[in-house]
Amino acid sequence: MNITIYGAGYVGLIGAVALASKGHDVLLYDVDEFKIKQLEAGNTPIYEEDLESMLREVIASGKLTFTLDIQQAVAYSPLQMICVGTPSREDGTANLSYVQDVVRSVVRHNHKAEKKLLIEKSTVPVGTHKQIYHWIESLDASLDLYEVASNPEFLREGKALYDFLHPDRIVCGVSSTWAQGLFSDLYKVFKEEGYPLLFTDIASAELIKQAANSFLAMKISYANMLAEVCEQVDANVVDVTKGMGLDKRIGKEFLQAGIGFGGSCFPKDVSAFIRTGEELGLNLGLLRETLLVNARQRDRLIQKIVSALGDLHDKTIAMFGLAFKAGTDDVRETPAIYLVRELLGRQAKVHLYDPVAIPNFQQMVKESQNVRYFSHAAETAKGVDAIILLTPWDEFMTLDYDNIRSNMQDNHFFDARNTMNKDQMKKAGFHYIGMG
Ligand code: NAD
Ligand code: UDX
Repeated sequence: MNITIYGAGYVGLIGAVALASKGHDVLLYDVDEFKIKQLEAGNTPIYEEDLESMLREVIASGKLTFTLDIQQAVAYSPLQMICVGTPSREDGTANLSYVQDVVRSVVRHNHKAEKKLLIEKSTVPVGTHKQIYHWIESLDASLDLYEVASNPEFLREGKALYDFLHPDRIVCGVSSTWAQGLFSDLYKVFKEEGYPLLFTDIASAELIKQAANSFLAMKISYANMLAEVCEQVDANVVDVTKGMGLDKRIGKEFLQAGIGFGGSCFPKDVSAFIRTGEELGLNLGLLRETLLVNARQRDRLIQKIVSALGDLHDKTIAMFGLAFKAGTDDVRETPAIYLVRELLGRQAKVHLYDPVAIPNFQQMVKESQNVRYFSHAAETAKGVDAIILLTPWDEFMTLDYDNIRSNMQDNHFFDARNTMNKDQMKKAGFHYIGMG
């Protein structure tokens, strides 16, 4: 079936490629002309495993096409899937202006007056569907022509295509059998492959997404809170969370203590959910604490660095990894930006390396007398006083640390993700410091 997707970012592009690979005819629209031209040429604007090869396949098969023409986008299908950004406003609420732009465009360019299903795939606060109906009404359009549905996306960056194609569940919030029928057709292949399709009312579907992201963030903060306790009582947080996670009711995922969560979703989605609570007159205090614990991890790492190195003036610190997690070049809300700024503010010099995220990070922190970028991890660490392992890329696990240590000025190793083997690092001559 035909589907129009708005927004060629992580969710829109991955969704477009994945749905096209399942046999649908997908038209991907974006306001960013450069991005659309790049995609038409078969090049991906983001780094994601397997994405480029699959993109080229679906372009070659004619299943995925691109457009900058809004009229063509609107006319293409009854399914209008909105995948644009919903970033945080200063006050923590979700900025829905990009969603509103799409809704406005669809309504204004629906010249044939065909019925359209406006699908919220972007993460939006619960109740946004009502807001969308208000926007439609305010454009003097007939509400009979539009129906809103919620179909939140749960993919993780770094494993985005895999997650989209192997979902734990597909959630569809609908208010009619028409919408339910369209989703059943869209996800028929997934259902046949055994992936659960969950139909709910629209508000519940919107809330599932907010609730799931905040719960995962809370789980990480719980592990990070335990890391603080572990440091006080000489326990090991990796063992503690392993022991907890073996309990099926708890589960081992998202219990990895470290520098805390970053990225374009958890920080903004938790903030937005807190604000949703406030608007409802509810105090979602658990989530406030989740953000506080998260911020504290970064400060705790800086404190550890200062207690080990003393005055950072003229000290040089290497950072292994800049992306907010492994497998992506995304640096949105990466803990690296906070740490680099904090270190530079304390007059330290930094040597930075990441296998794919340097171009994006350079847009925030330019090369200078105190900031140098490197193209190999081992080079980054030459002559430095300390290494911070920030992003747990696989390549950092297998470096020749004996050699790296011998080329350093001093021997501090801060494992911000608790990924290295402590005993082996000590054997290689490092003063190893983890997070809990
Ligand atoms: P993104 O910033 O990577 O991409 C958004 C795209 O929308 C950009 O290409 C932008 O040019 C385009 N755009 C802006 N205005 C537009 C308009 N009027 N019409 C068409 N295109 C327009 O965003 P993202 O990371 O893909 O996130 C999109 C949404 O999905 C957000 O709500 C996010 O919370 C949610 N989400 C993201 C992830 C993730 O891992 N990134 C996962 C699940 C859900
Ligand atoms: C997240 C959600 O997982 C996904 O379902 C949603 O659709 C988008 O937001 P993403 O931000 O891509 O995905 O990555 P994720 O793997 O969830 O990690 C988020 C952050 O938490 C990263 O900074 C990661 O390093 C951190 N994290 C994750 C931990 O600190 N500990 C963990 O145990 C897991």
